[in-house]
Amino acid sequence: MQQEDKLKLVISHAKEYGFVFPSSEIYDGLSAAYDYGQLGVELKNNIKNYWWTAMTRMHQNIVGLDSSIFMHPTTWKASGHVDAFNDPLIDNKDSKKRYRADVLLEDYMAKSEAKIQKEIDKAKNKFGEAFNEEQFRATNPNVLRSQAKIDDVQAKMKAALESSDLIALKNLIDECEIACPESGSRNWTEVRQFNLMFKTELGAVSGDAGIIYLRPETAQGIFVNFLNVQKTGRMKLPFGIAQIGKAFRNEIIARQFIFRMREFEQMEMQFFCKPGTEMEWYNYWKNARIAWHNALGMGEENYKFHDHLKLAHYANAACDIEFNFPMGFKELEGIHSRTDFDLSKHEEFSGKKLRYFDPETNESFVPYVVETSIGLDRMFLAVLSNAYRTEMVPGKEGEEGAERTVLSIHPALAPVKVAILPLVKKDGLPEKAKEIVDLLKYDFNLQYDDKDAVGRRYRRQDAIGTPYCITVDNETLEDNTVTIRDRDTMLQERVAIDALHGMIAQKVSLSRLLNQG
Ligand code: GAP
Repeated sequence: MQQEDKLKLVISHAKEYGFVFPSSEIYDGLSAAYDYGQLGVELKNNIKNYWWTAMTRMHQNIVGLDSSIFMHPTTWKASGHVDAFNDPLIDNKDSKKRYRADVLLEDYMAKSEAKIQKEIDKAKNKFGEAFNEEQFRATNPNVLRSQAKIDDVQAKMKAALESSDLIALKNLIDECEIACPESGSRNWTEVRQFNLMFKTELGAVSGDAGIIYLRPETAQGIFVNFLNVQKTGRMKLPFGIAQIGKAFRNEIIARQFIFRMREFEQMEMQFFCKPGTEMEWYNYWKNARIAWHNALGMGEENYKFHDHLKLAHYANAACDIEFNFPMGFKELEGIHSRTDFDLSKHEEFSGKKLRYFDPETNESFVPYVVETSIGLDRMFLAVLSNAYRTEMVPGKEGEEGAERTVLSIHPALAPVKVAILPLVKKDGLPEKAKEIVDLLKYDFNLQYDDKDAVGRRYRRQDAIGTPYCITVDNETLEDNTVTIRDRDTMLQERVAIDALHGMIAQKVSLSRLLNQG
């Protein structure tokens, strides 16, 4: 299956089963805004819970915070967002469409890449086994010409972006003869910087004085509360503050479903440490975070570290954890060693000291910070797309097999843990099944279903990722046993009702997941 096709299937599955809906769909939706449905909200909460518990309960020196979305506007001046949180934009005068200049150039290079790939595929077909791709790339004149163009554009774009040279970016778009995908014309405006923060106005204050921003990251809420938490929690360095919350960015190119949205959720942790120890903690958090991901069993080969070669001016080390999404490897999480940049800036702009007094050395200093920052919605997409598969299920003897769609989500994250299914809707089986619902409902999110043949009910549960189905049959009435079916193996075993709670608790347990991570 083509990767892009898989994304389409995941999007339509997510909608069909109540995971993710387009926002305000009855008005034709709002681009890059999505709503999480009845199952989506459960999966999202389970991911949050896994992250929150791993950060706070598993680390005695990490505590939580829930800071407000609106912050004093000077916060964003201090953090650099007002002056530097920009994208270079260009408008097409005919279609009136706005584009990111660097994305237009990237798309241009991707087209040249595709041309190279076409040449390679053609030659592969012609030469079969004897084909040597490396040699072909090094000698074929068409490939060499396209590759040289890509390298040239790449180098010029990098130089222009690094020096914020907007004229050079525009010249490069002209040189490549890039046309607007919508109007087909090359009638472009100049390239301008566009700030990604959403602005709004505060209460009764009018004009510029009343302008405030929707936060573009949750991190600054942590920095401005550093001393509040340190003092009231009597925290000693090193220690961390974790926060989950909404962030807003006026992304110009918002596409690929919930991968890039204008309103999204972040799970961020700022770890405050002594200057000079930050690289030790940076490596610690790189290892801890990849272990957290790997514990979910989504395939170690699906993760890659990508070190930032060009560091932001405040960072002395930074990397992304990339995940193999249906669109290819893309950033899922960032780990950044942010030095004392943020706290020092807030000291400068607020005039308040944000220092840690070390009782052992009698010194006070601005701590260094290592940050881990993961997008909750991206994690949701990673889990959902990795779990989605269709497969043939062999039929009983003499019967044809059937296709099933299954979400193999880790049981600890699965939105519904157990389905309880009376085999038939009579003979006292529904009543017995409801007794089991009452036994389990306090600890597990479950569904009761007595409609249709049991095979169809299994398929429905497979499609939403329910790891266990309990079937109540006539034998249950005689000996208080039920069958429990495993979503992935489809094997069934007979279990005493008394043993169900302990068995399911063990299977869906978050502690087992946390112990591996
Ligand atoms: N405090 C650091 C920070 O915000 P970032 O790399 O800009 O760093 C961190 O964002 C994470 O937030 C990313 O790795 C990604 O998972 C998520 N993220 C960023 N922009 C997003 C968007 N427009 N939609 C969804 N998730 C986004």
